[in-house]
Amino acid sequence: MQEILQELERRRAEARLGGGQRRIDAQHGKGKLTARERLEVLLDEDSFEEWDMFVEHRCNEFGMAEQRVAGDGVVTGHGTIEGKLVFVFSQDFTVFGGSLSETHAMKIRKIMDKALEVGAPVIGLNDSGGARIQEGVDSLAGYAEVFVANVVASGVIPQISMIMGPCAGGAVYSPAMTDFIFMVKDTSYMFVTGPDVVKTVTHETVTQEELGGAITHTSKSGVADAAFENDVEALLELRRFFGFLPQNNREKPPVRETRDPSDRQDDSLDTLVPPSPNKPYDMKELIHKVVDEGEFFELQPAYAANIITGFARMDGRPVGIVANQPMVLAGCIDIDSARKAARFVRFCDCFNIPIVTFVDVPGFLPGTSQEYGGIIKHGAKLLFAFTQATVPKVTVITRKAYGGAYDVMSSKHLRGDVNYAWPSAEIAVMGPKGAVEIIFRGDAGDPEKIEQRTEEYRKLFANPFVAASRGFIDDVIMPHGTRKRICGALKLLENKQVADPWKKHDNLPL
Ligand code: COA
Repeated sequence: MQEILQELERRRAEARLGGGQRRIDAQHGKGKLTARERLEVLLDEDSFEEWDMFVEHRCNEFGMAEQRVAGDGVVTGHGTIEGKLVFVFSQDFTVFGGSLSETHAMKIRKIMDKALEVGAPVIGLNDSGGARIQEGVDSLAGYAEVFVANVVASGVIPQISMIMGPCAGGAVYSPAMTDFIFMVKDTSYMFVTGPDVVKTVTHETVTQEELGGAITHTSKSGVADAAFENDVEALLELRRFFGFLPQNNREKPPVRETRDPSDRQDDSLDTLVPPSPNKPYDMKELIHKVVDEGEFFELQPAYAANIITGFARMDGRPVGIVANQPMVLAGCIDIDSARKAARFVRFCDCFNIPIVTFVDVPGFLPGTSQEYGGIIKHGAKLLFAFTQATVPKVTVITRKAYGGAYDVMSSKHLRGDVNYAWPSAEIAVMGPKGAVEIIFRGDAGDPEKIEQRTEEYRKLFANPFVAASRGFIDDVIMPHGTRKRICGALKLLENKQVADPWKKHDNLPL
């Protein structure tokens, strides 16, 4: 018996060495942790149970029969993060470059299927040279198996991808279908076709980093949700991020005790909005001042920064925050910001996370590039997402809420539950200057008259009281009491239920 036990230990030790010490050193040399070291940082101590440690590939071509490595380039299993169950896979670049074989895919598929059955999230740590070249179509079939699992699980369990090395070709599409993609700066990249192919086809010279590095995807393409400095920071931040999420679409997100009183006032908010309507202010200041302990996990901070999205807690309950940012493009909605916020709103709605919306929006961004780029369809995504969302929706208009953009930003008309406005709110079809230039075009040559008309319009419409008199705003609130009012509204809405008619699925304008 002793011998059998020793044999198990020997096999385990061999599997844990992956592609061998030389390749582990090379991985460390690049500033990267190994697949198993990453899981140690991500998961609670001693919580990881590995599955399929002894799985090997079945390929015999190109000398592969002689090269079998236990685990086949991916470490899979389950563990906990702050006590909550999570299924994980971590690709091992030291084994065939973490490339995906038929059996490697089978291992990932196995944990995804189980996660779906038991209702627990899946986190994938990607570090892979792509399809296992020696396996040909078997490897491609493996990818498709994973894609199907991603699609079936979408909206049922949270799926998160952390890109920690190469992720190219077909490999990008599994992360693309997960809910969030995070990346590590300098060591990770994602692209459909690499720099060499790009050079041949479009004659563009571009580096891997420029084409698909973390900075590119968090600022230019919007493919990734956040970028971190190194493996350890990335995994610790992922643990923090995980704390906002429920286990599945039937559970509520986890409530965390807070020492921050729900009725805490912040008098500085009374002077946040500058007296001049054209002067910007930082909407993030408002967010930090109203959420629990000022903690805000922002997503895509460097992409479409005219809208802010991210998670926070209010009175211990996780909330999704969507807010216009007057500091960027005056807070206008454009194509990128509409897509960014729409996807975020839909995630929150899938997973029972209430949405708090802060509004200061002068309208949609005008211009040919926006119209030719399809702002009509993209703007509609945000409209669709807010309307469709049945989670509690609390909205605070701080200043401008003009035109169609007013409707879009979680207004009462889109089934907003509790809609507040600050006294500085201006809810109208457009700003006073633009309005007067159109409706009093005849007075264009008379600056005095225009001034008088503008003042008249401002008095009549540039305030929250017309909307409040119609019941479109539930109350005009003091800025310093914003936290208390939002916390109260969320408590009120805790057990909200809405029944929509049956449908197979909607037809979101894509
Ligand atoms: N299939 C099989 N083995 C692969 C592989 C793949 N797709 N990608 C990498 N490997 C192997 C390499 O042969 C090498 O093996 P070795 O340690 O026995 O020498 C090991 O993984 C590491 O690869 P290497 O090229 O030395 O690492 P790198 O950091 O210099 O480059 C890549 C990484 C991913 C850029 C490079 O390996 C690459 O271009 N791979 C192919 C990508 C691709 O075209 N995939 C198929 C399309 S999806």
